Amino acid sequence: MNSKNTKQKFVYGLRKLHLLQLADNVRYLLSIKNTRQENHQFINDHPDFNLPPSFLAYDAYGHTNWPVYYHSGIAHAKYICKLIDENLASQELSICEWGCGPARILRHIRSFLDKSNTQLHGFDYNARSISWCQGNIDDINFMSNSVNPPLPCEDNSFDCLYNLSVFTHLSERMHIDWIRELGRVVKPGGLIIFTTHGDFFKFNLLDDELTEYESGSLVVRGHIKEGKRCFVAYHPPAFIKSELLQNGLEMISHLPGPALEDFPQDVWVIRNNKPC
Ligand SMILES: C[S@@+](CC[C@H](N)C(=O)[O-])C[C@H]1O[C@@H](n2cnc3c(N)ncnc32)[C@H](O)[C@@H]1O
Repeated sequence: MNSKNTKQKFVYGLRKLHLLQLADNVRYLLSIKNTRQENHQFINDHPDFNLPPSFLAYDAYGHTNWPVYYHSGIAHAKYICKLIDENLASQELSICEWGCGPARILRHIRSFLDKSNTQLHGFDYNARSISWCQGNIDDINFMSNSVNPPLPCEDNSFDCLYNLSVFTHLSERMHIDWIRELGRVVKPGGLIIFTTHGDFFKFNLLDDELTEYESGSLVVRGHIKEGKRCFVAYHPPAFIKSELLQNGLEMISHLPGPALEDFPQDVWVIRNNKPC
């Protein structure tokens, strides 16, 4: 058995015993300790950059490293904006990030968008993240939602809704309910961009999980609160195509991971072709 498999089996055991959250709390303390020096330097170099509380960063990202929060946020915002520019012509856009966490990406979007009038919205089910964003990030409308749909907004509110690593923490039922909800809030002709744990992550799967994945089924590791980082789903592309891309959702592109720097998830760019 290789060491990767040993680690996955150990985590599997913790999950089954409902001890994974406890182990993750210990890992959080280690992360604080291990990033202390680097973070101290970052704060000295970027005195005007508002940082979220460490526990909120860890809840969303599984680390508390400020240089990574800052640089990956810029790189991923730039990437999302390139996809928006390539696929939406209008100069006046309403853009939403669902599952924005402490705004790692959303806070940088305006700097990369070649559009004159952009409204930005961020949603997350962690109400404490949203409350931090509301108090610390200007010119973006932040609101919390529950783990289940709906989002607190009207039909056809957005030209583009993107989410990075949110479906990766939901059950199959929630995939079906949320994709329908995203289709509701995005305008006809609008864009939905999302990411998944695709083939790149097969190395992580235990034998039974791999068999399930190869058969085209979603693989879900639960026994922990849904929507949290340790609740994990793996997505065979066949599952996305057959179960999620329905009701007028048309694939523009599927970019297998690693499509983004330091982020090996698959990226899906979808057009909402529902009737006007
Ligand atoms: C892995 S983090 C990614 C955060 C952010 N997308 C980023 O890449 O910086 C997943 C985020 O999705 C949020 N989340 C999970 N389930 C959600 C749901 N049903 N509705 C809204 N947000 C959700 C979590 O609270 C967390 O902030």
